[in-house]
Amino acid sequence: MDVDEIRSDLTEVLITEDEIHAKLAELARRVETDYAGNPPLLVGVLKGAVMVMADFARELKMHVEMDWMAVSSYGASTESSGVVRILKDLDTEIAGRDVLIVEDIIDSGLTLTWLRANLESRGAASVKILALLRKPEAAKVEVDVEYVGFEIPPAFVVGYGLDYAEKYRNLRAIGVLAPHVYQ
Ligand code: IMP
Repeated sequence: MDVDEIRSDLTEVLITEDEIHAKLAELARRVETDYAGNPPLLVGVLKGAVMVMADFARELKMHVEMDWMAVSSYGASTESSGVVRILKDLDTEIAGRDVLIVEDIIDSGLTLTWLRANLESRGAASVKILALLRKPEAAKVEVDVEYVGFEIPPAFVVGYGLDYAEKYRNLRAIGVLAPHVYQ
């Protein structure tokens, strides 16, 4: 889906499809260097990271394995609480592996802080994080994120895997959702 199809649902296009792909290529070159001779296991967090994983993994000029987790971080409320439930666990044994978590966005950072600790406790040799977007103002906890695509303002964004009520995930670009859509 292109921005033109839902232009009035957005107040602003924050990042275009071309900008996303250029950034993922840049991150891929860094990952290739950092993991040279030591292919990582990419762990995507469902569902938001599907697009980032698909494009980032194809951009990499090295072998990688991919696995997926689904976690729920919000419980009953819409505010991130840091209480995380595993809805779908990895199929891969990660003891001794170099794991690179692939995420769409870091908001409070609570989900990723929990996830990194969880994967480390399974004996992974290393656990690093790649996130396409980060909202710095919203950070409640300091998360060390080795690879960040874009720093964005603390607005609610949709597209490229990010949803509002399961919609807009298939939008090619990333935009700020207009208040009239959710008010
Ligand atoms: P947190 O970092 O623990 O607060 O949770 C991050 C998760 O919240 C992401 O993986 C998204 O699923 C969701 N999220 C946070 N901000 C946004 C947004 O602006 N649009 C859509 N989803 C978001």
